[in-house]
Amino acid sequence: MAQLWGGRFVGETDKMAYEFNASIGFDKRLFEEDIEGSIAHVTMLARQGILTEAERDSILQGLSGIRDDVRAGRLAVDETCEDIHSFVEACLIGRIGDVGKKLHTGRSRNDQVALDMRLYTRKRVRQTDGLLKELLSVILATMEEHLETCMPGFTHLQKAQPITLAHHYGAYFEMFRRDRQRMADIYMRMNYCPLGAGALAGTTYPLDREYTAALMGFAGPTRNSMDSVSDRDYLIEFLSALATVMMHLSRFSEEIIIWNSNEYQFVEIDDAYSTGSSIMPQKKNPDIAELVRGKTGRVYGALMSLLTTMKGLPLAYNKDMQEDKELSFDAMDTVHDCLILFTGMLRTMRFKKERMADSAMKGFTNATDAADYLVGKGVPFRDAHGIVGRLVLYCVERGTSIEKLSLEELRKISDQFQEDIYDAVSLKTCVEKRLTLGAPGTEVMKQVIAEYRAYLEHDVFRKAP
Ligand code: ARG
Repeated sequence: MAQLWGGRFVGETDKMAYEFNASIGFDKRLFEEDIEGSIAHVTMLARQGILTEAERDSILQGLSGIRDDVRAGRLAVDETCEDIHSFVEACLIGRIGDVGKKLHTGRSRNDQVALDMRLYTRKRVRQTDGLLKELLSVILATMEEHLETCMPGFTHLQKAQPITLAHHYGAYFEMFRRDRQRMADIYMRMNYCPLGAGALAGTTYPLDREYTAALMGFAGPTRNSMDSVSDRDYLIEFLSALATVMMHLSRFSEEIIIWNSNEYQFVEIDDAYSTGSSIMPQKKNPDIAELVRGKTGRVYGALMSLLTTMKGLPLAYNKDMQEDKELSFDAMDTVHDCLILFTGMLRTMRFKKERMADSAMKGFTNATDAADYLVGKGVPFRDAHGIVGRLVLYCVERGTSIEKLSLEELRKISDQFQEDIYDAVSLKTCVEKRLTLGAPGTEVMKQVIAEYRAYLEHDVFRKAP
């Protein structure tokens, strides 16, 4: 396949050097965006009188023919071309002849690839947002169903205080909601069109950059041509946001793995999202959760890789930037698959409410409430803390728990204890009484859930600034 830059060269490129340089193997993914950008470019060129209407029509027809044929599988992307831009241009010239050679007027592959990658990334940002929204709706449905399902809350992975499943899931709702906000934020900042920046210094043709930007749904054209061809910030921001999504998914996965373990048995992962062992017949492993946790490293790697690629680059375009693609695509695909599978796993997971409540009762999760009870009777908190500490020790030595002690035993440790202590340290009371905003108490939780419901129903992706 002919190269786009033959004129200045007398010698042949070394075969391995040519292949090393070529990007078609992975930038063929930008085919749709490349055509979309060319259509907008040519439409603008004719509007500005740089191309005739007849030339425009012939090129547009050629481009849409190529697009139709590739979509229908009648035309395969020729991987001997250097990149997707050369492929489209060569096809066009092959189909419509010399007029096809006018397509690249007032354009460089530098602003072309910058545009293609932005168009593509913009699409994936919105797609990621949609998947996060799906995940949020599954989380919220579980919260609504399990408003009163008690479980232990942990710090240091030690039982701390009783909470509800709705409350626990609410923490993840917050995390993934922030992830969605990051998507909208990145989108707004990146939604400017680099086309017209040329190789680095704009062009002498009277391009209408506002017009091409508007044709492709951008908020406007970018403001500096050097930056336009060498800016990959939006990708770094997206990779960073994707890394954060994975960090959240990974933490959630870790909890599910723990909850699903033989020791905990809080949940049962559906057969559709578990796998067996080739040797141990009893096994049902949480492989999907483990893989999501594992793939987090790969997405972090993409972010580190691109940051490192960019760090020493002088203005403007450098070929190093071609390295932005493979890892970014891999990260986008990984997060896409992880979000879909994780959401499916969550949707079908069953909760063992009795085990969870039973676990919440054990491990002295009501110790703080016992201390608060004494405070209610006029004991200073620090003294109450000491009294309940001794109470816990007394229980540990006898293998029992606070609510199982007789009033007589309790009063041996503090004469402030009365009959109403049993109600004060019951699991239900411990949860119900936590009514500060953001706490698990049913009444306040209902309020928060209603807010989340309204957010999911009314929040649409913010497209333009
Ligand atoms: N394949 C290149 C990339 O991905 C396209 C831009 C090439 N520009 C150039 N001057 N070689 O960055």
